[in-house]
Amino acid sequence: MSTSRLSPMNPSPQHNSPTVYQSSTDTFRSLLKDGTLKLFTNPTILSGRNDEGVFDKTLEGISFGPEIEGASNNYGLWEISDYQEKPKHNLLAKFFKEPGPQHFGEVKALRMMGLLVASGMIRDPHPDGRPLLRPAIIMEKKEGVLLRNTAVYKLATLQEQRSMTEQINAMMCRQAVEDAVTFKVYHYDNNLSNALLTFLDKEPAKVIDFIKSVKGLELVDYGDAYMVMKDVSKERLYDACMNRKKL
Ligand SMILES: Nc1ncnc2c1ncn2[C@@H]1O[C@H](COP(=O)(O)OP(=O)(O)O)[C@@H](O)[C@H]1O
Ligand SMILES: [Mg+2]
Repeated sequence: MSTSRLSPMNPSPQHNSPTVYQSSTDTFRSLLKDGTLKLFTNPTILSGRNDEGVFDKTLEGISFGPEIEGASNNYGLWEISDYQEKPKHNLLAKFFKEPGPQHFGEVKALRMMGLLVASGMIRDPHPDGRPLLRPAIIMEKKEGVLLRNTAVYKLATLQEQRSMTEQINAMMCRQAVEDAVTFKVYHYDNNLSNALLTFLDKEPAKVIDFIKSVKGLELVDYGDAYMVMKDVSKERLYDACMNRKKL
């Protein structure tokens, strides 16, 4: 990990701003500063109509299943039961209030990850019959449960929960690093609401069995992703990700 530099963004330590945070932000900042990473919403990443026109078309013929809980920065996520005959994979639609660079960037990141199915204006499925078309992304629905929804986590002590959180955070970062190298998409939104866990057999009953029972972890939510612009070591990407929770 690199050491902290003093700058207006990183001022000298004061009693109410713990120094430990200052050095930990440096790795990520340096990746931005040297041009290794660029936010997908950056205008230099979005290439005209290719990206800004991703919600221009109206998409029809979609049947919705249940709403997916947990949306906070969008206008709701819905399972899709039917789209263009029977879809080969499970799909969902993520809705937004209106089009904008953040959502153009999310479409681009999903496309680069190979997870984008379609994007466009889709009739709002809220049951109160809002007659509006909203910008939405149709994407692959990944398998898994959030850590906080597992019984083993709910029944654990605070200390055990902290330990499980740390282990999942490290798994998220390892996955983010692999994806960054393979797809040039750096997830960098490693909060636990964006990690879906699957288990080898069934969810473990005991904390001690927890981590060895995890079969896989899928990252979701590319709303704050960065594009990888240059060759970069896995270590730097991993450090930046692991330090994220301290920002
Ligand atoms: N591709 C996906 N597959 C399965 N579940 C998903 C997917 N994307 C999102 N979700 C679920 O929906 C929740 C909210 O979606 P997210 O994209 O994280 O929205 P927000 O931008 O509000 O954080 C996630 O916490 C997750 O449980
Ligand atoms: Mg999220």
